[in-house]
Amino acid sequence: MTVENQIPLEDYNRFRAFLERSCGIVLGDNKQYLVTSRLTPIMSSHGLPDLHALMHAVDANAKPGLKEQVVDAMTTNETQWFRDIYPYETLKTIIFPEFAKLSDRPLRIWSAACSYGQEPYSISMVIQEYLLSHPTAFSRGIQIVATDISPTVLKQAKEGVYDATSMARGLSEERRKMFFTPMEGGKWVINQELRGRISFVELNLMSNYAPLGKFDIIFCRNVLIYFSADLKKGILNRMAEIMHPKAHLILGGSESPTNYTDVFEMVRSPHGVNYRLKSKP
Ligand SMILES: C[S@@+](CC[C@H](N)C(=O)[O-])C[C@H]1O[C@@H](n2cnc3c(N)ncnc32)[C@H](O)[C@@H]1O
Repeated sequence: MTVENQIPLEDYNRFRAFLERSCGIVLGDNKQYLVTSRLTPIMSSHGLPDLHALMHAVDANAKPGLKEQVVDAMTTNETQWFRDIYPYETLKTIIFPEFAKLSDRPLRIWSAACSYGQEPYSISMVIQEYLLSHPTAFSRGIQIVATDISPTVLKQAKEGVYDATSMARGLSEERRKMFFTPMEGGKWVINQELRGRISFVELNLMSNYAPLGKFDIIFCRNVLIYFSADLKKGILNRMAEIMHPKAHLILGGSESPTNYTDVFEMVRSPHGVNYRLKSKP
């Protein structure tokens, strides 16, 4: 008997519906192995024999925090420094020069599924580098809001401490020396100057974004891929509502707003493609 066959189809389908309702993640037909590997530690720690019992405990609200723990475990948090490079080149050469003269308010950037923090910290490093060569830019400051549904990744992101394996993924030695301080045990901590402009907030992308305020740039990378077409449409349209005129939207390499909404236009640059809010007619 394979691992997949150990979860009765009825329980698997009930779990899939729960997961999509809770956080939007759509599980394929044959992901029983993933559910088993991600949830076995939780079931063991709560003394629950199988997925049926776990779902029953979640539905009955029998154990505080269990639902959140299950959702957290089902998120995929793969990330790295300067992922795909081009979004950061686009920031430096196209978007920052355009917004550098903002004088009535701070520049506001949202990293909408920030995982362990590599994305907002990479943005903060590019800002720091830009300010070195343009010291009078962004006179009203820059704020980064970094959100994720997973309290586990957010905790680490807030600490800004990374081991040698994470440090090796996409970070040049020059940036490591410039922006991190070595710690005991071969770990590194991000410098306070970069950390200071970021607020980390737990947020489910299925919820209301209005409390976050308005943004000039939204990074929403490598997360829409997990959602249904309806949810992508809802997320993109709600993001548009909290974007300043001409704000930029930076999606993952395989993601696009086409087919879901027409409020964004594509902007091609030598570095790659990004999107911006269309001006209202
Ligand atoms: C693959 S990571 C992408 C991280 C980063 N944006 C990047 O491109 O490297 C996807 C992240 O989306 C988060 N996520 C999944 N569903 C979410 C939801 N409904 N609301 C907010 N974040 C969610 C996961 O916790 C995970 O950290």
